[in-house]
Amino acid sequence: MRVAVIPGDGIGREVTAEAVKVLQSTGRLFGRTFDLVQLPWSADHFLKTGETLPANGYQLLREFDAIFVGALGDPRVPDNRHARDILLGTRFELDLYVNFRPVRLIDDRLSPLKNRGCKDINFVVFRENTEGVYVGVGGRFKAGTDDEVAIQEEVNTYKGVHRIIRHAFEYAKAHSLTKLCMADKSNAMQQGHALWQRVFKEVAALYPGISATHQYIDAMAMFLVSDPGQYQVIVTNNLFGDIITDIGGALQGGLGMAASANMHPGKTSLFEPVHGSAPPLAGKNVANPIGAILSTALMLETLGAREESKAIERAVEAAVREGKTTSDIGGSLGTRESGDWIARAITKNK
Ligand SMILES: NC(=O)c1ccc[n+]([C@@H]2O[C@H](COP(=O)([O-])OP(=O)(O)OC[C@H]3O[C@@H](n4cnc5c(N)ncnc54)[C@H](O)[C@@H]3O)[C@@H](O)[C@H]2O)c1
Repeated sequence: MRVAVIPGDGIGREVTAEAVKVLQSTGRLFGRTFDLVQLPWSADHFLKTGETLPANGYQLLREFDAIFVGALGDPRVPDNRHARDILLGTRFELDLYVNFRPVRLIDDRLSPLKNRGCKDINFVVFRENTEGVYVGVGGRFKAGTDDEVAIQEEVNTYKGVHRIIRHAFEYAKAHSLTKLCMADKSNAMQQGHALWQRVFKEVAALYPGISATHQYIDAMAMFLVSDPGQYQVIVTNNLFGDIITDIGGALQGGLGMAASANMHPGKTSLFEPVHGSAPPLAGKNVANPIGAILSTALMLETLGAREESKAIERAVEAAVREGKTTSDIGGSLGTRESGDWIARAITKNK
């Protein structure tokens, strides 16, 4: 498997090193070779060379089986230009329309909610990843004056909305899940979200075995903390998916625990922890590498290496169970030591 590895900025570099360590340990045990090609694209690279990614960058990425990203974002690049080109650019150019973010609590001890544990916090979120307000359509008029007008358009297309909703239903069906909830704000956003309503009803009719419900996103934000057990599969747009999966990160014990996949089924996809570059933690060996490590498990599962993926998940569960973790989830290990422990805990045994 040929994987492009972009460690990026801040703690992205540190957690990627641990993800790579675990991947290599898994490869050794299962007799699989990973050809991991490190790409330097980052704030450092941009500040040194003026290049965010090379002219043929997206084409280069398409030639890999998968892409792994640590995180991008650096206070020295205040407009985040490099992150926009490298991360958002790759999502758009490779048409990675499915942002898959599982939310699974792996130990009751890590639950931030009173009387809610692993049995209540276990669902997946499908976030539309190529449209919405993230497309950068809009402009500013009379910028910097008291008369400034700032317009940021939200783009929703029939094709874009249809394919993410369809994908979420297909996932539910393939995993024998019977509850799917779509979240929008169609009461207030009466154009774009009317399209979500229409498409959702149209697609739901094709899956009579799945109970398809709708919630306004503000109500969902509340229910995610008061009654997360009601969810199995959630589908929503780009902005709302971004926000509620940070709540999802907290439900799993913290942002450092959350993994994600940016996919175009059948094509090169990108895997990354949900968190960003967390500048205050960078360089201190304190960042939790589990979100990054679980993202490699998602990558292996997507590439068909299911046993290897399960082995990584089991090692992470053991680390959490035994408290061999970083301090954000109650342990006393550093980032490197946490990665070492998980890499050593990879086994073939069920
Ligand atoms: N996918 C990405 O690359 C991505 C995602 C989000 C934010 N960003 C960028 O990252 C930079 C920082 O953004 P932010 O501070 O809003 O979000 P962030 O996710 O980087 O960090 C928010 C807070 O969450 C906690 N946290 C995050 N990851 C952790 C980990 N692995 N272990 C322990 N604690 C962890 C820390 O308390 C941290 O201060 C910005 O430049 C932003 O644009 C990038």
